[in-house]
Amino acid sequence: MSNLTRRRFLQAAGGITFLALSPIGCSSFAAPGNKAGWPLFTALPYVQPGAGSQLVNGAESLIIAWQTEDKAANFRCEYGATERYGQRATIEQSKVWAGDTGRLHYAARPDKLKLGTRYYYRVWCNGEVLFAGYFTTRQPRGARIRFAAFGDNAYGGDADRAIAFRAYQQNPDFVMNTGDNVYNSGLNSEYEDHWFPIYNHDQASLETGAPLLRSVPFYTVLANHDVRGRDANGGSCADFDRDRDSLAYYTAMHLPQNGPTPAFPTPLIGDLTRINDFKSAAATRYPNMANYSFDYGDAHFLCLDSNIYLDPSNRDLIDWIADDLKSTDALWKFVTYHHPAYNIGEQHYREQHMRVLSPTFEQHKVDFVLHGHEHNYQRTRPFRFVPRENSAVHKINSSNRLISGQFTIDVQFDGAKNTAPDGVIYLTTGAGGAYLYDTEFTNDPSKWLHPQDDNAPYVAQVFADRHSLTMFEIGGKTLEMKQVDENGEIIDRLRVTKA
Ligand SMILES: [Fe+2]
Repeated sequence: MSNLTRRRFLQAAGGITFLALSPIGCSSFAAPGNKAGWPLFTALPYVQPGAGSQLVNGAESLIIAWQTEDKAANFRCEYGATERYGQRATIEQSKVWAGDTGRLHYAARPDKLKLGTRYYYRVWCNGEVLFAGYFTTRQPRGARIRFAAFGDNAYGGDADRAIAFRAYQQNPDFVMNTGDNVYNSGLNSEYEDHWFPIYNHDQASLETGAPLLRSVPFYTVLANHDVRGRDANGGSCADFDRDRDSLAYYTAMHLPQNGPTPAFPTPLIGDLTRINDFKSAAATRYPNMANYSFDYGDAHFLCLDSNIYLDPSNRDLIDWIADDLKSTDALWKFVTYHHPAYNIGEQHYREQHMRVLSPTFEQHKVDFVLHGHEHNYQRTRPFRFVPRENSAVHKINSSNRLISGQFTIDVQFDGAKNTAPDGVIYLTTGAGGAYLYDTEFTNDPSKWLHPQDDNAPYVAQVFADRHSLTMFEIGGKTLEMKQVDENGEIIDRLRVTKA
């Protein structure tokens, strides 16, 4: 591909406009001429959603973040609705870690933005422009939107890059990363090694990944690979003795913070100085970013922590969820959490604690619930669920929390001729890059039943023999969903309509 063609391709799909930085190894970048004393970049500028929850024209803000070596530099970030820029963003700096090596994290905050508008930005360092790109703010009500969803990615293999490229080709407004978005332990050093370089690669290809992050915000949720420590009792926690750069979810991501103070925040153990360093960098993001919601176009999204250290039957949490889903006037409602409450996989079938939230989702007319955790693609039929025996939900830190109950399945819905579902569709899209689970389940519906669930046929489709991602496109009362595999083929699709 010639330079010109490549540049056009990148611009068409929402990518780079200018990069003066040169790669030094796989995950660091130097200023032109590798100027003495200038910091190396360890994460190129990437767009984050920021605090925006409700849609308010003129009050939109995003975050442009980047990370460097722990070396002082004078940064400036400009932005504007044209490439003449004109506005200057405030920049906050925090000290973070990659392994035991210090890093500086920068967060520039363009604000007072209009909805559904492209903005240009550029980052100056020590008086020189090193980077220029653009992003588009959230779409207002009534606008068509499209987003990608995938999870269990950034494993460090070729499939991560293929899925990043396929997502990029789909030109999403944003990405919903359904958790385990970096392996193995959610460390900032792991984001440096195989998250930023893949989803913010300068070239778009199956072999490299794609320049998504510099233009496309990623939303994500807390998952088990974000929290990989164990306390003296074997409980799930972040262990800062083991990993100084634990919980990069709270220090590298900038997401809405409109959820309640969690009753079960991510537990922290280890050296107090390290924990205080983490808290200082995360500021209000820890623990408030555990649960949040936001609107985008005609859709509302609720994102929840589903880790095993929490009890989702907590009254404050359920009240907040009900209130959040009730108070939105969005036409479409999505929930994202990592641990799939309804899946027939061999690996995580018994982690059913999140099932207790289904009646609340049904009552407030949630359309889709998105998950990861199972490294494959599983789609359920629309159904309603009434828990029967749910005492296991209180077994904190157990991965064996079976919740039995009554399924009422809409078997008429087929997503083609019959497009009005009765119930919630649960979609596990965890084939984003990590090694696959249960490949033999593909095309074998006899394996999609479970005696513990009275062999209720709630699973409608499984693709476990290939990596894939989900695309949603919403225009008014019609939603199109398609599952795209690593070869770019559509392997499953649905149309959902509202009266
Ligand atoms: Fe997981």
